[in-house]
Amino acid sequence: VYHTPELTPTDQVPDCAIVLDILRATTTIATALNAGAEAIQAFSDMEKLMQVSEQWPPEKRLRAGERGGAMVAGCDLGNSPLDCTPERVQGRRLFISTTNGTRALQCVQNAPIVLATAFINRLATVKYILAQQPETVWFVGSGWEGSFSLEDTACAGAIAHSLQEKLDVPLNELAGNDEVIGAIALYSQWKDQLLQLFHHASHGKRLLRLDCHEDLKYCAQTDILDVLPIQKEPGVLVKA
Ligand code: MLT
Repeated sequence: VYHTPELTPTDQVPDCAIVLDILRATTTIATALNAGAEAIQAFSDMEKLMQVSEQWPPEKRLRAGERGGAMVAGCDLGNSPLDCTPERVQGRRLFISTTNGTRALQCVQNAPIVLATAFINRLATVKYILAQQPETVWFVGSGWEGSFSLEDTACAGAIAHSLQEKLDVPLNELAGNDEVIGAIALYSQWKDQLLQLFHHASHGKRLLRLDCHEDLKYCAQTDILDVLPIQKEPGVLVKA
């Protein structure tokens, strides 16, 4: 588990990187693909997003920009998964740039498999890992500007816990992997109260100050979408 893009090694790549930004980028990406977006193109840089999306016909594109939790002026959307309805996103490419989540995607874009995961599509991720059996898997939590985040770590724990159960791996076989053991413990403590966990989290509190209560409720649901965003080319995610 790497808690932030800043802590993620740049001189190695895993077989599979699972990028987590529960509040809210990876929840939004999964929701948009489930609602019929043709692809998601992620950018860490807002100017680059504007340049590249300019080459697409306006009726085929949607620009989603978030900084500090708020929508970026000039974009069609912020980063609320609740805005990604079929009416808005069907058949369109979503160009997205967010404070941390799209940077996390960028820092592992050279891995052969890159997945975007949240609680809402946890099971789809677990099923994919069980089917593909990649040898090395990294969880990359987006965090907040270099800091640890509770919600991304808990989701890493949720996936690891499920894999551990399904593969029948005793906890002592994970000995030495402090981060995964810690993530599983965090998830086990909060699994029935994820919304409350988000209320304790620093970014959860930031979003609550921005009146995003409904977003938190949506992001706290587990296994509601059978969709798995997977990188098709650097920065571009489609349904697996
Ligand atoms: C991020 O990338 O930091 C987030 O997704 C922020 C947000 O909640 O919009």
